[in-house]
Amino acid sequence: MLAMSYRGPFKVRADKARPYPEIEHPNDAIVRVLRSCICGSDLHLYHGLVPDTRVGTTFGHEFIGEVVETGSGVSKLNVGDKVIVPFNIACGQCSFCQQEMYGCCHEANPQATAVGGIFGYSHTTGGYHGGQAEYVRVPYADVGPMVIPDWMDYDDAVMLTDVVPTGYQAAEMAGIQKGDTVLIFGAGPIGIMAAKCSWLFGAGRVIGIDRLDYRLEFAAKYAQWEVHNFKSLGDPVVFAKQTTDSLGADVCIDAVGCEAAGDAMNTLLGRKMLLQGGSTTALHWAINSVKKGGIVSIVGVYGPTNALVPIGNVVNKGITIRASQASVKRLLPKLIDHVKNGIISPKELITHRIPMEEVAEAYHIFSCKLDNCIKPVLIPPSASA
Ligand SMILES: NC(=O)c1ccc[n+]([C@@H]2O[C@H](COP(=O)([O-])OP(=O)(O)OC[C@H]3O[C@@H](n4cnc5c(N)ncnc54)[C@H](O)[C@@H]3O)[C@@H](O)[C@H]2O)c1
Ligand SMILES: [Zn+2]
Ligand SMILES: [Zn+2]
Repeated sequence: MLAMSYRGPFKVRADKARPYPEIEHPNDAIVRVLRSCICGSDLHLYHGLVPDTRVGTTFGHEFIGEVVETGSGVSKLNVGDKVIVPFNIACGQCSFCQQEMYGCCHEANPQATAVGGIFGYSHTTGGYHGGQAEYVRVPYADVGPMVIPDWMDYDDAVMLTDVVPTGYQAAEMAGIQKGDTVLIFGAGPIGIMAAKCSWLFGAGRVIGIDRLDYRLEFAAKYAQWEVHNFKSLGDPVVFAKQTTDSLGADVCIDAVGCEAAGDAMNTLLGRKMLLQGGSTTALHWAINSVKKGGIVSIVGVYGPTNALVPIGNVVNKGITIRASQASVKRLLPKLIDHVKNGIISPKELITHRIPMEEVAEAYHIFSCKLDNCIKPVLIPPSASA
């Protein structure tokens, strides 16, 4: 079958002779992929920033598909079902899953106390192949996958595997109170969705900061927030104070993560020398821009090693930091309703539909932010009809 294959930093290719996945456990299903997105998180892998990313691995944690085979232990899914597959792989039974912390499952990535299981996200998250392929093995098939409602567009469905729940959880963790000023760093798909969802929680003002004008323009239209390019702001922290009567935003959201630009020292330490788990520039700005007693919500991904953050300011300002991989399964029922009711239209973020055979070009476009790309989706040959 066709599958994306990692060859080393900045190199991926379409492997046309990958063996079909097989049922390895009675609770597995095999899914024929219908849509598979590339995520900002995949770029961290592509850029060689995630430890133990092995050559030959297939990425892809944002996919939907049709069930073509089920193990003997699977009772809730049937062959022919079209399913949304959450990016977290979760057993549904461990103590973390029982608390609905599906991103922290202790069975899907056994022995790992620092991260759960994720499709196609290096051996640090369990070593599972991902869904940027024609077929994929889905473990714990009765737990995560959810049948796509008849009325739902596939492009909306694939955005429910990660982007919508992550944006929603970013706003939820921020504990937004009615009328709050929310400052969001990053206007990629995640930051844009966090802005959209901030309004749902009652924000009075939502401000976005990025460095790419085309994204800011798109984001402003999609989520009706005020947006700024940090390259023309001077110091974003000073701007945050000036625009909020000197105190700072009520809440800040980091929707950038480990590849943040904007500070040469952080870029050198975190992205070039790999002395810390990524560049922490956006997180610095978030901590320093939030008001005393405020909340910083982090969904941007950082590496597993230590990172320099202004912890003194966190303590002295009495800031609450909340952070997580999104708990997709917990949020799906509510978010499906939001799509049904027209409150969120996720597919509008998809700017590029690219045949899976051209996966190398797709990564290049998304990585270099070419062609006004917001979100690319890969279409496998067997799904293009
Ligand atoms: N926690 C989760 O469950 C989860 C899920 C999905 C994605 N993520 C993470 O969220 C982050 C965003 O994902 P995405 O798909 O939107 O990525 P993306 O690469 O499309 O967007 C990131 C944006 O951040 C901007 N940026 C860079 N430096 C900045 C800075 N200092 N201040 C403000 N903006 C800056 C970039 O220009 C870009 O537009 C990534 O780190 C990704 O790994 C986390
Ligand atoms: Zn993702
Ligand atoms: Zn579990």
